[in-house]
Amino acid sequence: MLSRSITTIQESLHERGYEQTMKQRAFLLWALLWVSAMCIASSVSASQQAPGQITMNSKVYQEHQKGLVTFTHAKHSAEYKLACADCHHVYKDGKNVWKEGDEVQQCVACHSQGKPPTGKDAPALSSQEKNRTYHYSAIHENCVGCHKANQKAGKEKPGPTTCKDCHPQK
Ligand code: HEC
Ligand code: HEC
Ligand code: HEC
Ligand code: HEC
Repeated sequence: MLSRSITTIQESLHERGYEQTMKQRAFLLWALLWVSAMCIASSVSASQQAPGQITMNSKVYQEHQKGLVTFTHAKHSAEYKLACADCHHVYKDGKNVWKEGDEVQQCVACHSQGKPPTGKDAPALSSQEKNRTYHYSAIHENCVGCHKANQKAGKEKPGPTTCKDCHPQK
């Protein structure tokens, strides 16, 4: 008698309530997933929009000796027709595996120290070692390096290579 009524209850649960609850649960789960996906998507796109212009003011330097550089980010890619990967990279086994759409980290995330040490007690570092470690070296290698290469190649508008053309007078 008791076991029979339990089965009936189970059956009716299964037919109506239970299935209903499962549907509701599934729906809620999907809604939750969707909302969180949207939140992630919007936070990513909000922080990862390619900036039009950047005042280069890296926190790795306790104090800037030189005037702050204004970098025309959008112009460099759109007008000067440079590939994003000319400047953005993530190396894996010596190859740049970064592609457009991937997250962009600031240069200091990896080139995490300011200026390489100078003076007679400073360690002798190769330019590759300096570029890897020091923001100062990596950024100048990237920016001035390209402008100098353009100059060497005889381009009409190579980009500035002298200090004051990038760093305004303080
Ligand atoms: C000539 C070099 C250069 C080119 C080309 C370039 N970028 Fe950048 N980009 C930079 C530099 C430098 C920064 C500033 C990074 C920093 O503050 O450390 C930056 C910043 C960014 C940021 C913001 C990162 C952050 O959170 O501060 C995004 C996003 C980005 N670039 C995407 C792109 C995309 C997409 C392209 C191609 C359409 C592109 N960039 C082309 C040099 C370049
Ligand atoms: C995710 C880490 C990471 C980020 C972010 C990063 N780099 Fe690098 N970068 C490296 C590594 C690792 C190397 C060394 C590669 C090697 O020696 O094979 C390197 C090498 C370089 C070099 C020397 C080799 C070359 O490509 O000419 C320059 C210049 C450079 N980075 C500039 C930049 C600039 C400018 C930014 C920001 C726009 C930046 N890096 C962001 C990891 C990073
Ligand atoms: C791969 C090549 C390349 C790289 C990397 C590059 N530039 Fe340039 N840049 C150019 C070219 C080409 C021009 C000149 C275009 C013109 O005048 O028509 C230019 C022009 C400029 C100018 C003067 C015109 C303007 O738009 O303000 C400044 C300042 C400048 N670059 C700063 C930077 C800085 C800062 C970086 C590094 C964060 C950088 N560039 C990286 C190619 C490059
Ligand atoms: C193509 C543009 C460009 C040229 C040319 C250039 N720089 Fe820079 N320099 C930069 C950028 C970009 C940074 C990074 C600033 C930041 O992120 O805070 C920088 C950083 C520095 C810093 C560390 C920050 C500070 O202000 O203390 C010093 C020092 C510096 N540059 C000195 C020089 C000197 C000296 C010259 C000439 C020999 C020179 N730069 C030429 C673009 C340039």
